[in-house]
Amino acid sequence: MTKEERIMSKIVAIMSMSLDGYVADRHDGVAEVFDWYANSGDVEFHTGGSDPMTFHVSPASAQQLRELVSGLGAMLTGRRTFEVAQGWGGNHAWGPAFVLTHEIPAGWPRPNSTVHFVTDGIESAVAQAKAAAAGKSVGVHGADTIQELFNAGLLDELHIDIAAVLLGSGVRLFDHLADTPAFLGNPTVTAGVGVTHVRYPVKKVES
Ligand SMILES: NC(=O)c1ccc[n+]([C@@H]2O[C@H](COP(=O)([O-])OP(=O)(O)OC[C@H]3O[C@@H](n4cnc5c(N)ncnc54)[C@H](OP(=O)(O)O)[C@@H]3O)[C@@H](O)[C@H]2O)c1
Repeated sequence: MTKEERIMSKIVAIMSMSLDGYVADRHDGVAEVFDWYANSGDVEFHTGGSDPMTFHVSPASAQQLRELVSGLGAMLTGRRTFEVAQGWGGNHAWGPAFVLTHEIPAGWPRPNSTVHFVTDGIESAVAQAKAAAAGKSVGVHGADTIQELFNAGLLDELHIDIAAVLLGSGVRLFDHLADTPAFLGNPTVTAGVGVTHVRYPVKKVES
């Protein structure tokens, strides 16, 4: 990877979140916050990966999904997201996936899988995912992992799909932030059906 590609490659948190700040319910369920993927319109959006899915979304959501996904070259996630997603069947739809964990799960890595495990910390995970992304962005899933990246000053953008639902409890996206208030840059906003897509640049604190 060239120095230029390393600079271009952004680390982008991508999460669907309820309006009251939850990315899953108390049982790790994402049915409510992911409902817009399945039921917000007539435009079909096909994913790749080992467990391909077809979303049914509004034209506006489809357009922003196309832009988002075409800009991704790799994924970075936490171990809990990997477990809940059952390892994406071995191949994440949005590119090679780098999973942060303290211990590589039994039976992994698997042949013909693009899921990799990183046990030597967040900076190593970012470096490996950026190298795989080859100049494209790295998408991040997992609340704990996103907080860790944010606290380490490694996050470039927050892409949040705000689902039109109030969950009341569950897994919060913005717990445990080290330096608050943290001001963000100006968002781009796309109104969908039952969802609003917002993308904020993260302002880096000058050291
Ligand atoms: N709404 C959405 O868009 C969306 C998307 C994805 C997931 N989710 C939901 O989000 C939840 C998962 O997020 P989460 O915040 O609970 O967990 P997470 O960020 O997915 O994973 C956290 C785990 O990753 C490992 N880890 C993190 N940083 C590490 C480091 N520096 N070194 C080594 N290991 C490290 C640790 O696991 P070990 O210690 O076990 O190795 C840690 O417990 C689930 O409920 C899932 O359903 C929602």
